[in-house]
Amino acid sequence: MANILITQHIGGAGVQMLREARHHVTYRDKTEPMGQAELQTAVRHAEGLVCLLTDRVDTAVFDAAPQLKMIANVAVGYDNIDVRAATARGILVSNTPDVLTEATADHAFALLLALARRLPEADAYMRAGKYEKFEMFPPLLGLDVYGKTLGIVGMGRIGAAVARRGALGFGMKVLYTANSVKTAVEQELGAQKVTFPQLLHQSDFVSINVPLTPETYHLFTLDTFRQMKPTACLINTARGPIIKEDDLLVALRQGTIWGAALDVFEAEPEMTPGLADYHDRLLLAPHLGSATGETRRKMVETAVSNLLAGLAGQTPPNALNAEQLV
Ligand code: DGY
Repeated sequence: MANILITQHIGGAGVQMLREARHHVTYRDKTEPMGQAELQTAVRHAEGLVCLLTDRVDTAVFDAAPQLKMIANVAVGYDNIDVRAATARGILVSNTPDVLTEATADHAFALLLALARRLPEADAYMRAGKYEKFEMFPPLLGLDVYGKTLGIVGMGRIGAAVARRGALGFGMKVLYTANSVKTAVEQELGAQKVTFPQLLHQSDFVSINVPLTPETYHLFTLDTFRQMKPTACLINTARGPIIKEDDLLVALRQGTIWGAALDVFEAEPEMTPGLADYHDRLLLAPHLGSATGETRRKMVETAVSNLLAGLAGQTPPNALNAEQLV
């Protein structure tokens, strides 16, 4: 039996799984993260931690949690956890890959289509009573998607799932950047690995699917936007700080790129000043990539299964640092 802290609301099933395994669970059933000081106090006796991407789990948290053995993040991204520091202290860390891949790719593609066909603007137009006559060339002319070039920045699981939708569903040519050649995706979809500047120059739609790391922080700045087509659209379902949002606003205002769809934000949930007031060809969503009921429940189940395995002395299926701990 271990002491487990669940930092935020995860729904009843995950909590029950842990209690059925006879662990002592402290469940903070709230929908906002704790402050750092509160987290450091709450984690004091924890041997297992279930946390969300809005919990910053850093060295100060580790210092406050001498008994901590394992952290199960309920997210595939884990930039909120200092995994290196956890490893140095022998703490296992796990994430929730796979179960959210298709839902997140669906969302990326929904954003792509909605942006290209200007659906949020069209909806607002109708509700404002502006539809007075049919026009051959209406104010809300959109972009073709079928047969265009889709650039995937980061051909991991989600990137590949977005690419699959583009290539198989919409006849798109797929370009990608990645640390290594993705032979399976090249064979399946005819995708082509290119340099980042090549991807920027040639893509009609650019989908960001890389994790947030020091290398990808502000990967998209004004300089990047200037290398894109003026008709290009940028879709971000990864992490907000990959885009410098002030620069994105400048690029949109100046017509450097055509449009952008953002599901994640630089200082989430805060909005960069100006972003919410800018409406033309800018689509905003509140981090909904994996947000279907089914997928979110699977993420919780996956995180809890990882924790149960780790606390039982097994290697959790989605451990991020098990090899380094051996
Ligand atoms: C993740 O799992 O990293 C996603 O951003 C959550 O939707």
